Amino acid sequence: MRALTLVLGVVVGLAGLGSAAQARPDEPPRPEIVGGTLAGATEFPFVVRLNNGCAGTLVSSRYVLTAAHCASRTGTTSSYVATIGSADLGSGRAEQVRSERVRRAPGFTDVTRGDDWAVIRLAHSVDLPVVALPTGTALDGGALTVVGWGATREGALIQQRRLRQVQVPYVGDGTCGNVFRSKGYPFVASDMICAGDLRNGGRDACQGDSGGPLLRRDGGRWVQVGIVSWGVGCGRAAYPGVYTQVSRFAADIRAAIEEQPARG
Ligand code: ARG
Repeated sequence: MRALTLVLGVVVGLAGLGSAAQARPDEPPRPEIVGGTLAGATEFPFVVRLNNGCAGTLVSSRYVLTAAHCASRTGTTSSYVATIGSADLGSGRAEQVRSERVRRAPGFTDVTRGDDWAVIRLAHSVDLPVVALPTGTALDGGALTVVGWGATREGALIQQRRLRQVQVPYVGDGTCGNVFRSKGYPFVASDMICAGDLRNGGRDACQGDSGGPLLRRDGGRWVQVGIVSWGVGCGRAAYPGVYTQVSRFAADIRAAIEEQPARG
């Protein structure tokens, strides 16, 4: 019941967060996602902002991966707009691309089950680097990075103009499950992955970061191991952030994406 209230709160919060709710351009950059730093202009070229207050990632030239709770249903729709190609949403380099179709995790009801993923087919292909999806669970651990344009602290429902990043340590399923179940929140170990600074808090995703990526560096590339899904507040000690475990759904996600023939 408590978890349900939490989820509803998030959805209501998001509804009020249109694309117009950007931080003022003259606002000085603050050193914080929660507890992080500004991302470099070219570090995460595959991250996109959606006009419903969520984020997503380019997983192919034509498809954006996001959270299921960021998409209302599977079907044809031009109502989503992805801002792509710029960490600075106010930059003239940012390109807007409309959606064409959405495929949401089949049977998704809410974030409590873990199947919090959806793919959006764009109206046309874009020429930008894409993020890699995991081929197994080997990268589900270690030092992880979450990025987004969301709030920089709990309760601050503001969309940042510039992309932020923060390093969040992996938190194992056993620990994470204990934390949430002991407080009455549902935790599905096989489908969710947790990250955060358990002892000190202060580093986390927050409202407005949903649908964005939890990333693991693998050689010279980024692999997306999670999708920002839910949390209890933001950056609280003892409460890690909870993410869709991408390795668990990678086959379904790939199946939901039919690659377009190369242009030319
Ligand atoms: N559901 C939130 C959103 O819509 C993301 C919450 C993530 N919270 C956290 N503490 N990691 O943006």
